[in-house]
Amino acid sequence: MKLFIDTGSVAEVEEIAAWGVLSGATTNPSLLAKAEGDPGENIRRICELVRGPTSAEVVADEADGMIAEGRALAELHEHIVVKVPFSQAGLAATRALSSEGIPINMTLVFSANQALLSAEAGATYISCFMGRLDDISVDSTAVVREIVETLRPGGYTAQVLAASMRHPEHVVTAAKLGCEVATVPAKVLRQMLDHPLTTSGIEKFTADWQSRPEFAEWLRGLTEARAPVA
Ligand code: G3P
Repeated sequence: MKLFIDTGSVAEVEEIAAWGVLSGATTNPSLLAKAEGDPGENIRRICELVRGPTSAEVVADEADGMIAEGRALAELHEHIVVKVPFSQAGLAATRALSSEGIPINMTLVFSANQALLSAEAGATYISCFMGRLDDISVDSTAVVREIVETLRPGGYTAQVLAASMRHPEHVVTAAKLGCEVATVPAKVLRQMLDHPLTTSGIEKFTADWQSRPEFAEWLRGLTEARAPVA
């Protein structure tokens, strides 16, 4: 499963992209509204940092407006994926934009039927929001499982993108269910790093090594003796 970062913050993308784990990014109007600076510049910078698919969302509520905004957003950067909210208009816009070769992330998909319609309209990604389902006491695991199981037999190329990841367990669940992508906020990505045995293990290795100062000297010499990499 590929990991995207779900954010409107260039600083967060700079931090997490350095880990080497990101394949793309997703933004949405709410996330961009929280960020300082010009939204177009922020989206472009995020594209450059993740060097992969980066979703930017239309806000029009009828198809012609979505298509016009989608074409304009797609020109911001070669990595742009136009994010379209699910609706009749969204389906029509997805068909039009995808026919022009613009990749679409159909968002706010909460059922297998909506996912089927999105795939048929030509969406490249289908975003299901796990956290928001849990918020209304609907089992997000069951919904995502049904979406994945509904699309697979038909051989659709649309990728299931798990969104609204509120905690690391959502990410593991999405991977186990066979989602192709999870888009994850920086806070949850940082939480994914943590395990107390990793922390204590590093502390113990460091302390044991430091108990032999001559070993530190030996490793420093070994490192410095190497020719610098060009
Ligand atoms: O990508 C959509 C996602 O950001 C929604 O997350 O936490 O606002 O439900 P949330």
